[in-house]
Amino acid sequence: YASQTSSLEVPDSAPYRENDEYADVDWDNLGFGLMPTDYMYVNKCGAGQHFGHGQLNPYGNIHLSPSAAVLNYGQGLFEGTKAYRKENGQLLLFRPEQNAIRMKSGAQRMCMEAPSVDQFVNALKQTALANKRWVPPPGKGSLYLRPLLIGSGAVLGLAPAPEYTFLIYASPVRNYFKEGSAPLNLYVEENFDRASRRGTGSVKTISNYAPVRTCIPDYVPVLMAQLRAKKNGFSDVLYLDSATKKNLEEVSSCNIFIAKGRCISTPGTNGTILAGITRKSVIELARDHGYEVEERAVAVDELMEADEVFCTGTAVGVAPVGAITYQNTRMEYKTGSGTICQELYNTLLGIQTGVIEDKKGWIIEI
Ligand code: COI
Repeated sequence: YASQTSSLEVPDSAPYRENDEYADVDWDNLGFGLMPTDYMYVNKCGAGQHFGHGQLNPYGNIHLSPSAAVLNYGQGLFEGTKAYRKENGQLLLFRPEQNAIRMKSGAQRMCMEAPSVDQFVNALKQTALANKRWVPPPGKGSLYLRPLLIGSGAVLGLAPAPEYTFLIYASPVRNYFKEGSAPLNLYVEENFDRASRRGTGSVKTISNYAPVRTCIPDYVPVLMAQLRAKKNGFSDVLYLDSATKKNLEEVSSCNIFIAKGRCISTPGTNGTILAGITRKSVIELARDHGYEVEERAVAVDELMEADEVFCTGTAVGVAPVGAITYQNTRMEYKTGSGTICQELYNTLLGIQTGVIEDKKGWIIEI
């Protein structure tokens, strides 16, 4: 998929090109691996200044000083959102202004300059349109859009960078987990914490993510030994709050919900929980569907009593959890047809893909 492309300045409105052809991709076998596309959006700004116009460059490596603040001190944020293709060929974005708002507030926490909400949403639209041939056909997945905001300026001592780069790249994706849409098998991690009180757990900083996923391999041999008889591996780990180890926190890449009867509970956004846009949307949809939804401290012991457990996130979507292992006890949950998880999954994805009417003003058509 080599492309003959050159940089383009990004206009504030209107798609700059129409392309109704599809890229040469095996659309039936998409997972969540990076597949480079044609263009990426790039915009730079000095500390204390405002972002101006960005441009669409051919997708490729970026130049960074070895002493860029992001490389040395982790001064960086990321976002994730998806573009879906409707039957009529139009592209749909889901609540992109929410990602913009979250990036702005994260930037404040990390002492960074951030694009305005309009600049962010416009850049997303242009990146999606420029890579339109990489947006999967309806029902086959989506184009994952990954906005990054990094301290690209050079520093030596610990200080905010003198320059910031806002960048968006894209990749066609479908299922995040190797399980596909099959239920997840989680392990409650007690030896490592995801976030601490008054830390950056609620901020989408790049440094929140590497430590949480990489702890799994250390534990796989032990767990494999324990579970070999059942031939089970784990999909991911579920963290507990670092202060008491009694309450659920998050899975390494997504938020967690439990359901008992018609009551759904999820950890409240108390500073260590990422305020997921899918989380927030699912809470609203569940209330619309007549469920009681509680955002509160959810005790790990409640896993014993739950009927259902599910995860939410942009990459993950709404994913059923079939089993959780906690202190050598494996608990199993209802999955499949007739579950709350499936109802919410169908509703959310229906809205995101334009199959269900968007009565909430969540969708932007481009
Ligand atoms: C997303 O769900 O978009 C995220 O940013 C999580 C990431 C670990 C894939």
